[in-house]
Amino acid sequence: MDLTNRPRRLRGDGVRGLVSETSLEPTDLVAPVFVDATADERVPIESMPGHERVPVEDAVARVEEVLATGVEAVIVFGVPESKDETGSRAYAEDGVVQAAVRRITAETDAYVITDVCLCEYTSHGHCGVIEDDAASDPDLTVENDPTLELLAETAVSQADAGADMVAPSSMTDGMVAAIRGALDDAGHEDVPIMSYAAKYESAFYGPFRDAADGAPAFGDRRHYQMDPANRREAAREVALDVEQGADVLMVKPALPYLDVVADVRREFDQPVAAYNVSGEYAMLHAAAENGWLDLEATARESLLSVKRAGADLIVTYFAEDVAESL
Ligand code: PBG
Repeated sequence: MDLTNRPRRLRGDGVRGLVSETSLEPTDLVAPVFVDATADERVPIESMPGHERVPVEDAVARVEEVLATGVEAVIVFGVPESKDETGSRAYAEDGVVQAAVRRITAETDAYVITDVCLCEYTSHGHCGVIEDDAASDPDLTVENDPTLELLAETAVSQADAGADMVAPSSMTDGMVAAIRGALDDAGHEDVPIMSYAAKYESAFYGPFRDAADGAPAFGDRRHYQMDPANRREAAREVALDVEQGADVLMVKPALPYLDVVADVRREFDQPVAAYNVSGEYAMLHAAAENGWLDLEATARESLLSVKRAGADLIVTYFAEDVAESL
């Protein structure tokens, strides 16, 4: 038996760190923060243990909690005071995200990213403008081109409020170009765009839709978000966003799509982000609550695997807990 090669030689405690290929740092992580204009106190999010919707007055305190763990970036989601057909509170100057971001950027050093989408703001819960009789139409589709203008307006209003980076998540064709053009026209040429470039129509978003009150009132998102069956299509989607000027390329969800993360890492030079979504968080918590999994170990292993697949940064509800344990 020839055992010249013994991989176990490099697994001892003294050497493991030296040969480790992947590391996880608090500065790789982005913590989601939910700000709720309808709340006057913090409301726990049941399906996402440890997370809360906070009133605008508490946004700064919430972000300071994140910063205290070593995580330096947040992505802000809003629950508006009211909703309408065109999601007008998404791009209102005094909208919930705009108001929160003004305070957070004035009072903290956090790097503030904003999600650019309409689903939390539309009465129908879809990520854009829809046709009048859409509810009865099984082939319901968001109207792509009229939505672009509203997304651009949303991104500009968020940048005006002080957002450091905008992250369009609606999977509208042409959204990156529309937002880039509008940001530049408004003097925000230094605000980068992190595009949710390959975002799948995933069942793992369930808890988020409770958290942000953004579930579609009818139908689903399969006509605009990607089919989970498709891998090569992700490369085409991402290439389009790169042509339009995306600065950071996001794949979402993370764990069920590590092949896609790896593809994007290999095929493109831009930084790659992955979104470890609400369902990925909820399932580890549920298993841990039953005593079936070790929460801290599985959370850390999950994030490490996302980085190993090629992500530079990870948006994750585990950000604070994992950062504290590092
Ligand atoms: C808005 C948006 C969603 C998520 C992030 N931005 C919901 C969706 O597309 O249905 C999901 C995040 C998560 O599940 O953690 N479009």
